Amino acid sequence: MSELVRISMSIEKPLFEKLEALTAASSYTNRSEFLRDLIREHLVDREWEKDEEAIGTITLVYDHHARGLGSKLTHTQHHFQGEVMASTHIHLDEHFCAEMIMVRGQAGRIRELADRMRREKGVLHAALSTGSAGRSLA
Ligand code: NI
Repeated sequence: MSELVRISMSIEKPLFEKLEALTAASSYTNRSEFLRDLIREHLVDREWEKDEEAIGTITLVYDHHARGLGSKLTHTQHHFQGEVMASTHIHLDEHFCAEMIMVRGQAGRIRELADRMRREKGVLHAALSTGSAGRSLA
């Protein structure tokens, strides 16, 4: 762990009260940890904006009765074989499947993969969870 630095800052009272309420409503035990994670969230957002190397998970829910959908989704993943690290499939019920696809690569390529799958007929939901490959967080 890096050396800790103490800072003081000025902030408008209403904004400070909002910070206190957010910290209390979250699972954070102190304001410093909340602010540290807020900064890290911002850094990860910037990695994605700047199309840097990132990691993520694409969570799909789809109707497996949709014609040809399973093979289309597999075909798309083969096209992004450099980004797709692993995937897990869950049979939700008689109709629906969920698939979690773990990805690593250029942020823009990951978004392109998620968008391409989202547009397939029969895909009901495609959520992209954006993570960091870690470089900017150290
Ligand atoms: Ni299934």
